[in-house]
Amino acid sequence: METVTTVAALRQRITAARKAGKRIGLVPTMGFLHDGHLTLVRESVAACDVTVVSIFVNPTQFGENEDLSSYPRDTERDLTLCESAGADLIFMPPVSEVYPEGFQTYVEPGPLAEPLCGTFRPGHFRGVATVVAKLFNMVQPDRAYFGRKDFQQTVVVRRMVRDLDMPVDVVAIDTVREQDGVAMSSRNAYLGEEERARARCIFQGLFAAQWAFDNGERQSGRLVDLAREPMSAMDSLQYLEIVDAETLQSVNGTIDRPVAICVAGYIGKTRLIDNVVLAPSEADLVQSAA
Ligand code: PAF
Repeated sequence: METVTTVAALRQRITAARKAGKRIGLVPTMGFLHDGHLTLVRESVAACDVTVVSIFVNPTQFGENEDLSSYPRDTERDLTLCESAGADLIFMPPVSEVYPEGFQTYVEPGPLAEPLCGTFRPGHFRGVATVVAKLFNMVQPDRAYFGRKDFQQTVVVRRMVRDLDMPVDVVAIDTVREQDGVAMSSRNAYLGEEERARARCIFQGLFAAQWAFDNGERQSGRLVDLAREPMSAMDSLQYLEIVDAETLQSVNGTIDRPVAICVAGYIGKTRLIDNVVLAPSEADLVQSAA
């Protein structure tokens, strides 16, 4: 495994790999890696010849009062984990390499960036889309791997790729959970012991809704009520919403298409997000169309 910090060095490696006809996979990360990230790396290693992992805490996706300066970092551990997962190349640029002086061109996502996290983190998806577009241009991957935990991010990135004709397949991988159901997240490191125990309520709520859905409940209001109950253990809830899995528009009433139940809120000072996708069976869809 090799580590590079400049676009020039990255390009050199990528050009050589391309010339040799290699298939390139990219796993974009902000570091402080956990098994969720490593699952993406392993998926890329299995499907591609060269796996590039980018480790870059992207300042443009953090709001003014967010945790950019305290975002957890542990480069040495990240490198060891990447190597053990089979990554070939680590791209770890400093901020000045990604946003050199005079930088002023951004990718502005459309309405998909407005609901859910977009409401509470204005400008967040502009920062995500911009850095992901830049990483795609730098690495020129055939495939890029994202975790479904950041559901809205995946939808926004897929839209950007389609709208801007970027020649990359976006692969979304299911959320990896701890044994007790808590979604893996670098921000879980902020949680104290009592908070970590309480964080379970997020999955318990989502799981209650998922269970009811799997057993035939199709009313979005009832599913949200079921999910909300355990989540009262959170210190505050920013949103708990059922949205169309493609358009991210709120779904109120009968669920007759794939949706996601998405949640964001605080345990102590830590903002956590999670979701589950609820997809009615083909048979349900045919029945509701009849
Ligand atoms: O999901 C993340 O860690 C980040 O939003 C990403 C995709 C690496 C862009 O900075």
